[in-house]
Amino acid sequence: MKIGIAGKGGVGKTTLAALICWALKDLGLNVLAVDADPDTNLGSALGFLNAGSIIPIIQMKDLIKQRMEVKRDNPGIYKLNPQIDDIPDKFIKEHLGIKLIVMGTVKAGNSGCACPENTFLKRLFHQIVLRENEHIVVDFEAGVEHLGRGTAAKFDHLIIVLEPTGLSLESLRRIYPLAHDIGIKNISVIANRITSDKDINFIRNNIGDLQLLGLIDFSRACIEANQDGNWEALKKDKVYSQVKDAVEKLLNF
Ligand SMILES: Nc1ncnc2c1ncn2[C@@H]1O[C@H](COP(=O)(O)OP(=O)(O)OP(=O)(O)O)[C@@H](O)[C@H]1O
Ligand SMILES: [Mg+2]
Repeated sequence: MKIGIAGKGGVGKTTLAALICWALKDLGLNVLAVDADPDTNLGSALGFLNAGSIIPIIQMKDLIKQRMEVKRDNPGIYKLNPQIDDIPDKFIKEHLGIKLIVMGTVKAGNSGCACPENTFLKRLFHQIVLRENEHIVVDFEAGVEHLGRGTAAKFDHLIIVLEPTGLSLESLRRIYPLAHDIGIKNISVIANRITSDKDINFIRNNIGDLQLLGLIDFSRACIEANQDGNWEALKKDKVYSQVKDAVEKLLNF
């Protein structure tokens, strides 16, 4: 299954992406985590050592220029179908049985550009989506740019992370039609940072027919994991069992 995680900034995409990866792994499945946020931090949340020093592929300017065959005297001319099939295996790292590739992304301001970086990234996504025998979990950047760029097309499932706020629902209303338009077949919601029945009702009353895959409580453990870097401790927290339930639903969707 190829799963994308989207949503408003700061709703918990990266935290939930990491927990979803662990839950899939605990079910005995192979997992490739893909960090597609410009602010790459999925590696840290997955407990990768020195995660901060992993260079996102999008920043490998020489590699991209070389593969895209960008002409030095005319940078507007480059290959539309670059040779990249060796790239995933070259840059995938592994920690405690979970694989990770840090792609990064072209910054939002350039989202519409037909620059070589965007074309490279899109081809790389297609390449990754074609990988077999692996569940893929992509932590996308906040907002909708990645949907406009088409990097999320061909995914089996998009999970939109919400928190019980009106602003997060505004994001849902922007993300959903775009995700639908680019042909993502299954779209559902996980609501994070729940503190009361009122929060739950707020979410249920505002997501229409969208399937609610999970309700994840607000938990101090998430904040502490983020403070002391001991993300593994989250496995003992209630949020992990709630995410595991959501993943069971996802696999039976
Ligand atoms: N269930 C939760 N309870 C309490 N805090 C949480 C919960 N989930 C996430 N957080 C905290 O909320 C903050 C934002 O989480 P996270 O970085 O996962 O969000 P994000 O959507 O990936 O953000 P960004 O859009 O910046 O990439 C972090 O400090 C994280 O520890
Ligand atoms: Mg994030």
